[in-house]
Amino acid sequence: MATTVAPIVTAHIGTPDSHTLRGYLASGGYEALRKAVTTMTREEVQTEVDTANLLGRGGAGFPAGRKWSMLRKADPTYLVVNGDESEPATFKDHMLLEEDPHQIIEGTIITAYAIGAAQAFIYVRGEFALGIERMTQALNEAYGHGAAGNRIFGSDFSLDVVIHPGAGAYICGDETALLESLEGKRGFPRIKPPYFPAVMGLYGAPTIVNNVETMSNIPWIVVNGGAAFAALGEPQATGTRLFAVSGHVKKPGNYEVELAKNTFRDLIYDPRFGAGIRNGAELKAFIPGGASSFWFGPDRLDMALDETKVKGEGGSMMGSGSIIAMDSSTCMVRAAWRLVRFFSRESCGQCTPCREGSSWLDKIMYRIEAGDGRPDDLDLLMDVCDNISPGVQWPSRWPPNMTTICPLGPSIPPPIVSALGMFRDEFLTHIKDGACPYG
Ligand SMILES: Cc1cc2nc3c(=O)[nH]c(=O)nc-3n(C[C@H](O)[C@H](O)[C@H](O)COP(=O)(O)O)c2cc1C
Ligand code: SF4
Repeated sequence: MATTVAPIVTAHIGTPDSHTLRGYLASGGYEALRKAVTTMTREEVQTEVDTANLLGRGGAGFPAGRKWSMLRKADPTYLVVNGDESEPATFKDHMLLEEDPHQIIEGTIITAYAIGAAQAFIYVRGEFALGIERMTQALNEAYGHGAAGNRIFGSDFSLDVVIHPGAGAYICGDETALLESLEGKRGFPRIKPPYFPAVMGLYGAPTIVNNVETMSNIPWIVVNGGAAFAALGEPQATGTRLFAVSGHVKKPGNYEVELAKNTFRDLIYDPRFGAGIRNGAELKAFIPGGASSFWFGPDRLDMALDETKVKGEGGSMMGSGSIIAMDSSTCMVRAAWRLVRFFSRESCGQCTPCREGSSWLDKIMYRIEAGDGRPDDLDLLMDVCDNISPGVQWPSRWPPNMTTICPLGPSIPPPIVSALGMFRDEFLTHIKDGACPYG
């Protein structure tokens, strides 16, 4: 049975005019920023976020407070907020950008204050036309309200914030590709080291990159305290998290639930959330953490929404917070092929294993699905996957090894390795019959 806690990042969603300044102020908006810049030191804000143990919500799950503490001391430093969200079936930031832009802006300005940033940039996926419009409108309102610009709420702190639309590339969600794009260059992930933008980021200056949902948690933490946040969930998985639940559930949507105390079953079957599988069908498998995560069968439904367990016991990840349910009518060859085709099209092409490997996998999967598969294709698929991510196997283990500049490379094998590991018979039937059994 799913726990019931008051929502944090979706608290205003569904209230009248949630995207306007008037609506935001009516629910206590900008009081956290006022409190931070007029009554707290930068260190005190950082301590609250550290105490909260807020893990980044963009995919890697790195603690926000620890990331901030790694910022190299230099002048200037920057804050960049990642609102690129382009992964298939991930649509939580999209909703926050459209429905609660002020909360993101408030979290951004508090964070910039805490880390001493000279300027903040909010990078929004170019296709989010309404999100960009609402973010821009909200930022103008924030300036008018004294919450952005010079001497915020009469304090000594001043900050300019820039909304920057992306140009529609999934790879620009990778933080170093995003920084290149923001600098006006082609969105190529940067070669490491340096490993973190906190050391060398935008224009060579130390930069913190945080996700839109990560920022949306900050005002609540400042108002209620880090300890109140950490009291939700379990010590290693604190607070709530927004999950995008899609696929063959009766009620696809974004649902905010307490971490660690709830399970995948709750999100997929609870009537308040996914409400079960459509048409009374059976769940065949689900993808627990976005397109690049290894798949789970129904035997994993009772696993807690806790990244350490999903990685450690499950060998997968919660990643971008997207859960895709697949019912018994799903062709698993086709499902894996569609995901691999996405990665193949979005590969930036810098690394041979990613560029060539994804294209090979796309072609092999296509021919199997189209009925032209060969008996040795299954070994070939695993061989190509192994060249992209050495040692990749089923049952899966986390983290996958890398031969590439960025994690898009090792994101390619999981759909194929999972489908082959769990549904090898379906591949064999496609090849034997020379056709897809699902039509
Ligand atoms: C291919 C790729 C796409 C990514 N897309 C996003 C994205 O759309 N949004 C996001 O916040 N992080 C994305 N990330 C993760 C970012 O690199 C980075 O870890 C994140 O923005 C940090 O924010 P957080 O610490 O608040 O989670 C992506 C990573 C990769 C490799
Ligand atoms: S892994 Fe793929 S997307 Fe990432 S840098 Fe290499 S080629 Fe580009």
